[in-house]
Amino acid sequence: MNEHDSEKVAGLLLSRGYRQVESPEAASLILYNTCSIREKAAQKVFSRLGEYRTKQSEGQIIGVLGCVAQQEGEEIFARAPWVSLVCGSASYRKLPELLGQLEAGCAYCVVPFTRGPERSRTSDSILKEVKQLADLGYSEVQLLGQTVNSYADPSPRKMRFSELLLEVADVRGIRRVRFTTSHPSDFTQDIVEAIETQAKICDHVHLPVQSGSTRVLRAMQRTYTREEYLEKIAKIRAAKRPISITTDIIVGFPGETHADFDETLRLLDDVQYDGMFSFKYSPRPNTASLSMNDPVSEEEKGRRLANLQEKQRQIQAVRNAALIGQTFEVLVSGKSRRENQWSGHTSSHRVLNFTSLRKELLGHYVQVRVMGAGPNSLVGEQVM
Ligand code: 5AD
Repeated sequence: MNEHDSEKVAGLLLSRGYRQVESPEAASLILYNTCSIREKAAQKVFSRLGEYRTKQSEGQIIGVLGCVAQQEGEEIFARAPWVSLVCGSASYRKLPELLGQLEAGCAYCVVPFTRGPERSRTSDSILKEVKQLADLGYSEVQLLGQTVNSYADPSPRKMRFSELLLEVADVRGIRRVRFTTSHPSDFTQDIVEAIETQAKICDHVHLPVQSGSTRVLRAMQRTYTREEYLEKIAKIRAAKRPISITTDIIVGFPGETHADFDETLRLLDDVQYDGMFSFKYSPRPNTASLSMNDPVSEEEKGRRLANLQEKQRQIQAVRNAALIGQTFEVLVSGKSRRENQWSGHTSSHRVLNFTSLRKELLGHYVQVRVMGAGPNSLVGEQVM
């Protein structure tokens, strides 16, 4: 029965375009089928997993199938944290789904495991919900997804993500459409064109790069190089109206060298982001990076993070200062305790704090002229 199971799994992989190799060392994915008929067989599993670990190459994924997986379940992750996939003999149906998660390529991120495989709602159900929200008086909607731009309409309309953005913007009562987060690999030119042609689609793209080093990106299984990422940025920068770009960066990914980190610093110079969220790498269960060799000390990672943040602070200070004198539409979302002080976001998602003598501004769209700027926000006054 076990051999039969292995054959079925191999068949499934071959049908997905995988190729069989001669040895575990040569494989980028090892699925280890296990037997628990006698205690000795079950014990052997962990010593074998230990052997795989010592020979594990960078990015190699190890999964456990079969009856020991069934019996031990998540306990396997606890005892052998370098294992990325556990699928018991009773759940082989789920294997295509689990493989899909592995293929999504996210060597450090626990979300595909905690939230399960990516799925897309039908365009009709999304549009219906937006109409309901607009009828209730909401004017700004945000399309949310871990990789929102890989949206694939499961209905016969087969709407592309950019078409969905345009249709959502056309819903009566909607004035602003946002979307987050975009994966660089799925960020196509038609999304830029949608923003160009429809002013209601906010001029802001959040495009997490994670690292400026192609070597680290490969270890992260990010499926794009530094150069490919920069090509996407160039297309966004070439749009007919300015689009602000923000990003996420992880410093201290296992094996990140000084040279790799320097490439991330240089990327900030090249791209000139309008905002950045940055994180020290944090080991998470069920991720491939857990088993990677990580010689960089915590202190060094802390220094790199501080360096990166200081550099970005300077970039934002300069970029925001260049906006002084310009007027932006703000959706008012905050009222300060100080009199006549309000705050809100521009379409580009900058925070703008401003003065106005008007009352009851919350939820309204107002024109605000920028009078001053800091790295993280703008100050201004309402144009009457
Ligand atoms: N360690 C550090 N940062 C992480 N992120 C995701 N997983 C990890 C991790 N294991 C960051 C990425 C992502 C953001 C939401 O969180 O930069 O884009």
